Amino acid sequence: MPKTSHSLAPTFHFRKVECRYGKLKALTSVSLSVERGEKVAIVGPSGGGKTTLLRLCNATLQAHSGTVEILGKCSENLHPRQLRLIRSQIATIPQDLGLVPNLRVWQNIVSGKIGKLNLLGNLRNLLAPSKNTISKIHSLLERVGIEDKLFARTAELSGGQQQRVAVARALFQEPEAILADEPVSSVDPARAASLVELLNDIANERGLTLLMSLHNLELARNHFPRLIGLRGGQVHLDQCPQQIDPGSLEALYRLDADEILEDG
Ligand SMILES: Nc1ncnc2c1ncn2[C@@H]1O[C@H](COP(=O)(O)OP(=O)(O)OP(=O)(O)O)[C@@H](O)[C@H]1O
Ligand SMILES: [Mg+2]
Repeated sequence: MPKTSHSLAPTFHFRKVECRYGKLKALTSVSLSVERGEKVAIVGPSGGGKTTLLRLCNATLQAHSGTVEILGKCSENLHPRQLRLIRSQIATIPQDLGLVPNLRVWQNIVSGKIGKLNLLGNLRNLLAPSKNTISKIHSLLERVGIEDKLFARTAELSGGQQQRVAVARALFQEPEAILADEPVSSVDPARAASLVELLNDIANERGLTLLMSLHNLELARNHFPRLIGLRGGQVHLDQCPQQIDPGSLEALYRLDADEILEDG
């Protein structure tokens, strides 16, 4: 049953956030809120700040000024235990999927809970998983359509199947939100659309917040009710796809003179 958003703090709340790598400003004065259960696509040109935004959302990066609240907690100055808890509530599917190729599919999925369990729990899960754990993983694989791969070696799966393992691993974590950083860049358009649909359906079923960075604008427009466009580290647009005018999209992706010179 999806959770209602009314009484809960937003999943992510950014107030005038600036984030730098050395002297380079990757995000400047970003303010936005993502409510529980919302589904948002982050779009914009390369270097716009999409990955940086997602890394602030899972507290693997800290803002240099402004505030980032995750599930109502300010992500700054958290104790290691609180930080682990927050990170365990936010599942991330990185662009390279982050799977260990030599492990079996079920082992990769079990690793989704590493941050949530103590050492003993993790060892038990990895070395001698209970019937209950295996049956949970089997159900998740069923949900993503590859239940026959439970004991397969991960390296022997196709790119699309590995993406589904990464989704199942994220779900095994029992998160409040899923962050996916360009999860479909390495598969054909039909498989890309089917994975984006799957993640949207799962987010709807479980009331999860979904934040996905996408280079493919068509996928973003067709599957998400809200698009945030980042360019030069700033929020260039934040609208539902029907409201976005072609001019602002064109401006979001326009090459600057220095970029044209670099490319040529
Ligand atoms: N680890 C890093 N060290 C230094 N600069 C970085 C680092 N990561 C990103 N940057 C810079 O920060 C800016 C934002 O990068 P970010 O990776 O967030 O962009 P992006 O929108 O995800 O790009 P892409 O679409 O290519 O993945 C870019 O100018 C990038 O060069
Ligand atoms: Mg990126």
